[in-house]
Amino acid sequence: MDLLLRWCGCFLLVVCLSVKESHGECIVPAVMRGTWFSFELGSNTITDIDPTSMSRHGQCVALKVYRYDHKALLFKNNECYYCVRFHIRTINILQKSATECNTYRQGYKPSLDEVCAELEQHQALVTMFNENYVPKNCRSAIEGVWHFAYQNRFSFTGECNHGEAKIQSCQEPGNQFLIANQKFNITFKKCEGIKESFDGTKEFSCLGDWFVGKNHYFAVANTKESRKDEKYRCFVRNRDDDLYMGHSITPECSVLKTPENSPFRFRMTPVKQETVTPGCLLPKNFSGDWMNTAHMEADVFINQTHVIETTYPDEGRYRRTIYVCREQRDNRYMMARLNIDGCQKDYVCFEFVPRHHNIIRFRKGLEMIREDFSTVCSYIQFKSGRIEQNREWNYNLMLSRDPVAVKCPVAGKFNFTQKGELLFETRILGGVTKAPWDNIYCRENISDLSVCDQDQKEIWIDAHYCISVDAYGRHMDIYTDPDYKLKCIGYWKENLQSYLITYDELDPFSKYRCWVYQRADLNKVLMSQSVGPFCNLKQTVLGTGNGAAVTLNMVEYEREHDRCPMYFDDGSNPWKDPGANVHVFQFTAGSHLPSPTPLLAPLTAAFILLWVRGFMNVL
Ligand SMILES: *[C@@H]1O[C@H](CO)[C@@H](O)[C@H](O)[C@H]1NC(C)=O
Ligand SMILES: *[C@@H]1O[C@H](CO)[C@@H](O)[C@H](O)[C@H]1NC(C)=O
Ligand SMILES: *[C@@H]1O[C@H](CO)[C@@H](O)[C@H](O)[C@H]1NC(C)=O
Ligand SMILES: *[C@@H]1O[C@H](CO)[C@@H](O)[C@H](O)[C@H]1NC(C)=O
Ligand SMILES: *[C@@H]1O[C@H](CO)[C@@H](O)[C@H](O)[C@H]1NC(C)=O
Repeated sequence: MDLLLRWCGCFLLVVCLSVKESHGECIVPAVMRGTWFSFELGSNTITDIDPTSMSRHGQCVALKVYRYDHKALLFKNNECYYCVRFHIRTINILQKSATECNTYRQGYKPSLDEVCAELEQHQALVTMFNENYVPKNCRSAIEGVWHFAYQNRFSFTGECNHGEAKIQSCQEPGNQFLIANQKFNITFKKCEGIKESFDGTKEFSCLGDWFVGKNHYFAVANTKESRKDEKYRCFVRNRDDDLYMGHSITPECSVLKTPENSPFRFRMTPVKQETVTPGCLLPKNFSGDWMNTAHMEADVFINQTHVIETTYPDEGRYRRTIYVCREQRDNRYMMARLNIDGCQKDYVCFEFVPRHHNIIRFRKGLEMIREDFSTVCSYIQFKSGRIEQNREWNYNLMLSRDPVAVKCPVAGKFNFTQKGELLFETRILGGVTKAPWDNIYCRENISDLSVCDQDQKEIWIDAHYCISVDAYGRHMDIYTDPDYKLKCIGYWKENLQSYLITYDELDPFSKYRCWVYQRADLNKVLMSQSVGPFCNLKQTVLGTGNGAAVTLNMVEYEREHDRCPMYFDDGSNPWKDPGANVHVFQFTAGSHLPSPTPLLAPLTAAFILLWVRGFMNVL
């Protein structure tokens, strides 16, 4: 096809050259081709656009692309030149502005810019509806159930407010491509005393939505209507005001300036959702505020019965989903999902790993209509995180919004080399300039990663760290702050890899960062840090890519006065009591006494003594 077009193009070019006119350089982009319906100057208009021409406008001679969705075309029909600007709104909707026929002196070939110059930027646009439209999911245009009152400025005064009038746009769960998700209903009711009000349900197919400033437009086709001028309509809503929705009474969008001043106006009140009584309890230590790393960093609130997730799909907009605990077996919880106000609820299964540190790991199944634990929570419903080819998956993460630092699984003093796109660099923490300490002569500086605070809960990273020591072997540069301070807030082992989550209040990109870590030798540790708060399934310590922004190759060094012992925990038991360096000896059945290490033996003796004394005191 392409080849054919090119051949034709060449042929045309040859022909044109001989008559000294250059036509046929313009191929109309595929999204703009087709048969389009529009309402122009009060009458129904059909426009055919093919790869080289447009009805009534002739051949395309030039094309200019302002943006992927905004293009201008120059057409020539006999002596007439036309400039047509197109805004591509959705695959079903074009909006255009066009010049009348422009003629020029014999033989003169005007440029596109010349002909288009007379088109004003803010000219009212004509909306063109694709005659062979492909319905789109309604979700982004309108979703939920509303009661409404309506007014039609052109046929009656006042507002018709009937208790049963409603707009219904609900998603069928399970399949986002289901045809039911591409339609919505408006049920009108007749109001007593308003002759022009009427009874009836209209079903609309969604043709897509777009924003112009704060106005959120969407176009529809009435599924039960065959008259073209009655079939296509445009709606407008506003990001800041959900109360009103405007609707055109002709197949036009440009008549809609604001929802409130539209020819046909809906005043809407959301229908409250059904209440669901909880049937089970979530673990107590889940309660609190979380961040779901998998879902566009959604906010999650959890108490013993409810999980409330808020996502921000777009600036100034949010979606709230409420889950209510209905039934629990082992780690699986079947929850009722109350989505959008008024729409039918459905059921979904969560499998939660018991909380450790500041982390809840979970996976979520598919949504189902029937409340039946054995289907909803069957293991085949869990698709989250699954990579189909090799059947590997990992749990999704919820991280605490106010994390409490825990002991880092990697601690000690390390010298590191780094590789990657986002290296650790020298910077001034918190923006305060520390005076340089000129009197310190720095013989050697290294990149340093230390976890040396008393409880070893914070990773300090210095890209250039002066390791000179004074005559007594003590660290000299005691005034310089580290470049990065990261709190360890949780770690675990999954799929044979160890993961760590750190938290840095000052990180402008992502407060939470995920790391993969691994011990390479007695005194060597490899780590890689992700770009964001979760680790890609394929991220490893060995190289960047697959989500890793930087990899560190760390070698332990400890100077005489550092007092920073090395520590490593691979995370295989993340539920272990955090500061548990203390062994718990079981003194029950005397047969099976673990032998205490020589170092701990005096300590044990002391404990026993104390215990015996306490015992005596009681007596
Ligand atoms: C709209 O209403 C009609 C009849 O009342 C019904 O058959 C249809 O399923 C409804 N469609 C939607 C998308 O709710
Ligand atoms: C949990 O939160 C929901 C929504 O805020 C509330 O209706 C419910 O009573 C709470 N449950 C408990 C056990 O506090
Ligand atoms: C949370 O509670 C569960 C038991 O419900 C327990 O296994 C887990 O260790 C607790 N986690 C934390 C961090 O307290
Ligand atoms: C730090 O590591 C580099 C490279 O591995 C090495 O050349 C240097 O001697 C090390 N410095 C210290 C103080 O261990
Ligand atoms: C550390 O060494 C590098 C290169 O060896 C040098 O560019 C940098 O200025 C030094 N930094 C400090 C704080 O001494």
